[in-house]
Amino acid sequence: MNHIAEALIIRNIPFKNRIIKGAMSEALANRAGQPNKLHLGLYDAWGKGGLGCAITGNVMVDWRAKNEPGVVVIETERDLAKFTEWANVGKQYGMVQLVQLSHPGRQCPKGLNKETVAPSAVPFSPLLATTFGTPRALEEGEILDIIARFAEAARISEKAGFEGVQLHGAHGYLISQFLSPLTNKRQDQWGGSIENRMRFLLEIYKAVRAKTSENFIISVKLNSADFQRGGITEEEVIQVFKAIDAAGIDIIEVSGGTYEAPAMAGAKADQRKASTIAREAYFLDFAEKIRKEVKCHLMVTGGFRTAKGMNAALDSGACEFIGIARPLAVETDVSNRLIAGHDVRYAVEQIKTGIPFVDKMAIMEILWYAAQFKAIGEGKKPNPNLSPLKVFLNYAKNNIKAIIQGRVNSRKSA
Ligand SMILES: Cc1cc2nc3c(=O)[nH]c(=O)nc-3n(C[C@H](O)[C@H](O)[C@H](O)COP(=O)(O)O)c2cc1C
Repeated sequence: MNHIAEALIIRNIPFKNRIIKGAMSEALANRAGQPNKLHLGLYDAWGKGGLGCAITGNVMVDWRAKNEPGVVVIETERDLAKFTEWANVGKQYGMVQLVQLSHPGRQCPKGLNKETVAPSAVPFSPLLATTFGTPRALEEGEILDIIARFAEAARISEKAGFEGVQLHGAHGYLISQFLSPLTNKRQDQWGGSIENRMRFLLEIYKAVRAKTSENFIISVKLNSADFQRGGITEEEVIQVFKAIDAAGIDIIEVSGGTYEAPAMAGAKADQRKASTIAREAYFLDFAEKIRKEVKCHLMVTGGFRTAKGMNAALDSGACEFIGIARPLAVETDVSNRLIAGHDVRYAVEQIKTGIPFVDKMAIMEILWYAAQFKAIGEGKKPNPNLSPLKVFLNYAKNNIKAIIQGRVNSRKSA
């Protein structure tokens, strides 16, 4: 059965098939965080490629908290016309578009923002501490402000014409930092018990729902695990899934990992369990378990590469949507190919420069892809053979400038 080709309607919004592009930060915006023609070109290529839905790369809700240079920001209606153009791209192709709303919390590289905030002032491991500084703990008023920012960004996304939003609650970003006891050491109503640690997520969900219409889709991307000792337990993760489901979420995307333990990109092939290799997707076993506990739609992202593997996952009932990310950076027509029964051409895995300390950081996973997105946005063909070392050296050269610019900008906005 070709389940990936089946349509599905959520809140009156038709998904023409089950293939969703997982969020990938495009890193194409200018310093003011505005989307531009490159975004339009990129999503046009993906629309042509037959996706049922595309989730944008993460869009920051606070200009003072950017996770990387070139990231898009929504704070006010200043760029409504630009976002409207972006939303219209999907409509031409019947491709649903969700804006991934995000706050990176502590996962902001040093020098990019004036300061870094998080639930608690927890430092990074020595390897990552060279890139990421120790954050300042948020005050309660600031937590409430961030919740309001998510809601306002969702309202603007709907006004621009996007069919919904996805809250980035995975990969060690701020919502995920609140959920994990490793990064949330608070003793107020936002920390301690799992009920308190998930309050931030639930309050954001409620605020977003209150500011958007009934037909607006709200999704959340959540970790099945942090993959770190002392992190959120599986029982707690199940509690979080159940609570956000009961609150009324439409789609939960299942992922895993943080910058410190990047499981979202897959464990090294030789460390993967045989069952994961057989089923391709990294988090399918967890999805199967949680499927029985929640009624919302589930999307699983990470590792899917064959039409057979995707159809088997849908057939098993573990999820209703298949998320695909990296292959779409080097072949934009993956969705059409899969629906026609072909597999992806390039099973892109870890991007390595050959420099050990660089290869241990999540940064290469952003840079190499950003170069592909820029080419696609310009109407060129992506290059699966692009040298990671060349991309890194180019970044190292330009990043010094970006960091200085980031500092100047922070001062201007203060
Ligand atoms: C360049 C790049 C940027 C990414 N940016 C985001 C992001 O902004 N938000 C997010 O939730 N996940 C992000 N991811 C993770 C992907 O959505 C996805 O979970 C991961 O790549 C596994 O799926 P895949 O095996 O199909 O690539 C990014 C991944 C890559 C490679």
